[in-house]
Amino acid sequence: MKVLVTGGAGYIGSHTLLQLLREQHEVLVFDNFSNSSPEALRRVKQLANADFEVCEGNIQDAGRLNEAFGHFKPDAVIHFAGLKAVGESAEKPLDYYAQNVSGSIELLQAMQRHDCRRLVFSSSATVYGEAKYLPYDEHHPLQPANPYGRTKYFVEEIIRDWAAAWQDASAVVLRYFNPVGADASGRIGEDPNGIPNNLVPYIAQVAVGRLQHLGVFGADYDTRDGTGERDYIHVEDLARAHLAAIAFSSTSKGCEAINVGTGRSATVIEMVKAFEQASGRAVPYKIEPRRSGDVARSLAAVDKAERLLGWTAKLDVADMCKTTWNWQSANPNGYRQE
Ligand SMILES: NC(=O)c1ccc[n+]([C@@H]2O[C@H](COP(=O)([O-])OP(=O)(O)OC[C@H]3O[C@@H](n4cnc5c(N)ncnc54)[C@H](O)[C@@H]3O)[C@@H](O)[C@H]2O)c1
Repeated sequence: MKVLVTGGAGYIGSHTLLQLLREQHEVLVFDNFSNSSPEALRRVKQLANADFEVCEGNIQDAGRLNEAFGHFKPDAVIHFAGLKAVGESAEKPLDYYAQNVSGSIELLQAMQRHDCRRLVFSSSATVYGEAKYLPYDEHHPLQPANPYGRTKYFVEEIIRDWAAAWQDASAVVLRYFNPVGADASGRIGEDPNGIPNNLVPYIAQVAVGRLQHLGVFGADYDTRDGTGERDYIHVEDLARAHLAAIAFSSTSKGCEAINVGTGRSATVIEMVKAFEQASGRAVPYKIEPRRSGDVARSLAAVDKAERLLGWTAKLDVADMCKTTWNWQSANPNGYRQE
């Protein structure tokens, strides 16, 4: 199948790309490299021993999208491109609405112009907001607590309307929980710009000596050890969920939102211990006050993914830490070396 992948050079995109190529799909990556490196794509080509096309462009640029769609004629689109930092989204909400919401509308317009009716979209568990109950199932009320989460929520609604209005359209909205880990080769992984926003890349940079210690925000939550509890999902499992979603979209109609998590959780301290075990390095940490906007616990209900996609997560926290360490220790400066 021909799959156009927006944001394919990014963290989750590059891991999904590798699996698409290994499954013999034909791929075109559409990315403006605002938060990624062409080096990731070079490495994916090496690992898959396969080639693919790359179109450098912004999803807000209708002309550039038209060129890519006109030339490649995709059967389906996986849409990763967008901005993703919760804190930054509160400082620059208009950038988030422009890139994530307007950019997604441009993409849907291009799909419509070029008669491409199958879409898999990267949404996020942040659309749920504060838990009314746990685990979050897909019927949980959607009350995102920050601009980033709201952009995902609005795009979900737009996609739902698009799929309802256009006969034969099929959209799968994947709500990711906390993606971590790296490809087992250690050649591709998460390479945040500047200080990492997410826990595991932060821990990895402490372990490798780039950062001095980890700040643990709150140790007085109502959880097993008082620190925040999250449902971490290995990026390789997450990538596999996209292939399952693409396959599902060939027979489904309309729009389905599906959680992608493991249904198990780990606390911050459990993650630190697992990482120390995997890396053989100490990860010093300091308990700090709670951070506003953080929830105590997050956990996915995963039965819908199993029922509709035939997908379940296979890898555990030890695999997540081991592969992150593989990647971080072999590439202490991410892609900015060699
Ligand atoms: N990583 C997470 O924790 C997480 C969790 C839930 C949802 N998501 C969503 O999954 C998607 C992928 O996340 P990721 O972690 O791989 O992020 P990432 O930043 O590594 O990848 C995003 C890619 O999109 C590209 N991009 C950004 N804006 C663009 C634009 N306007 N036009 C073209 N390309 C653009 C970037 O250069 C990058 O290659 C995002 O939509 C993100 O919101 C991520």
